[in-house]
Amino acid sequence: VISRNFSTSVARAAIKNITVVGGGLMGSGIAQVSAQTGHNVTIVELNQEVLDKTHKSIQQSLQRVAKKVYKEKPQEGENFVSETLSRISTSTKIVDVVQDSDLVLEAIVENLSVKHKLFKSIDDVAPAKTIFASNTSSLSIAEIAAVCKRKDKFAGLHFFNPVPVMKLLEVVRTPETSDETYEKLMAWAKAIGKTAITCKDTPGFVVNRLLVPLLAESIRMLERGDASAKDIDIAMKLGAGHPMGPIELADYVGHDTTNSILHGWHEKFPENPLFNPLPTLQKLVDEKKLGVKTGEGFYNYK
Ligand code: CAA
Ligand code: NAD
Repeated sequence: VISRNFSTSVARAAIKNITVVGGGLMGSGIAQVSAQTGHNVTIVELNQEVLDKTHKSIQQSLQRVAKKVYKEKPQEGENFVSETLSRISTSTKIVDVVQDSDLVLEAIVENLSVKHKLFKSIDDVAPAKTIFASNTSSLSIAEIAAVCKRKDKFAGLHFFNPVPVMKLLEVVRTPETSDETYEKLMAWAKAIGKTAITCKDTPGFVVNRLLVPLLAESIRMLERGDASAKDIDIAMKLGAGHPMGPIELADYVGHDTTNSILHGWHEKFPENPLFNPLPTLQKLVDEKKLGVKTGEGFYNYK
């Protein structure tokens, strides 16, 4: 979404300044779309080296957008990239930057105790108005929020990879998320150009609760030898209109991610056969064949 008219609407909005914690795959995309739509963003990472990488990947993604949107006007495209980047600042010390933050959105490692440590460190430091949110794929929002006093100002904001392209945002309410927090987040979702849906704090919310079992079932199909990976993918692309087949998509999501989601859910809900861990997935993880990001998974990308 690129709009030149965002300055007045952002100025009036409740959420103007955003702190994105974690500048990896998801955090960099979230920072990009927020800055692209006129919000001030601070990215917090563990060290400067990662921040430099984050900056580079946002710049490349913006250039990709500029090339497409400003095809006939390269100078305007360059201005768009530099203006967007000028709205992004970086830090390695979260307690120094949360003072001005309307929203702290966490996209760090998928680990409950690491997420607890983060939110605990800022609950007493951030202003009372600041909303906290997690981009977790599979953990319970209420369990993450448990260490904070501001449970009424805590919610899930679940984005999809690639963030600049995928139009959906899941807004997750716990029983304690206030109406005011929820409404501010729904308005922010619209302001960053996403279509928001409302989810309860159930495992996988809506998309992952359907998508993870689909990926797992397609791998079980491979394990049984019912069809080849290529044919399963062709089937779901041409027979169900999916942009990627499930085996291809599993490679895209990353086998470490899917494997850890399945293990976490299986531990919590052992009676649900859809969450049973997969030997094939574990083997790929052990061999570090995580999919697109390592150059090999079910398919070879080298
Ligand atoms: N930044 C900016 N633009 C990007 C981009 C990026 N990082 N990546 C792709 N694009 C743009 C391209 O410029 C292109 O734009 P145009 O069509 O307007 O020219 C468009 O996106 C499509 O890209 P490509 O032509 O390179 O590739 P494609 O047509 O094969 O689409 C895809 C790629 C968008 C990834 C598509 O295959 C798709 O939608 N796949 C399914 C992805 C999916 O399901 N994601 C969710 C995963 S689950 C998740 O994220 C949740 C979780 O918790 C694990
Ligand atoms: P990633 O590994 O690409 O990035 C995580 C980043 O967080 C790393 O750069 C790491 O240095 C940084 N980090 C770790 N601990 C930190 C801390 N305490 N403070 C600051 N930075 C810290 O991971 P990702 O794929 O972007 O996933 C991030 C979150 O988003 C996870 O909770 C994941 O479940 C969720 N998610 C992932 C996807 C996906 O497709 N990858 C989709 C939706 C949601």
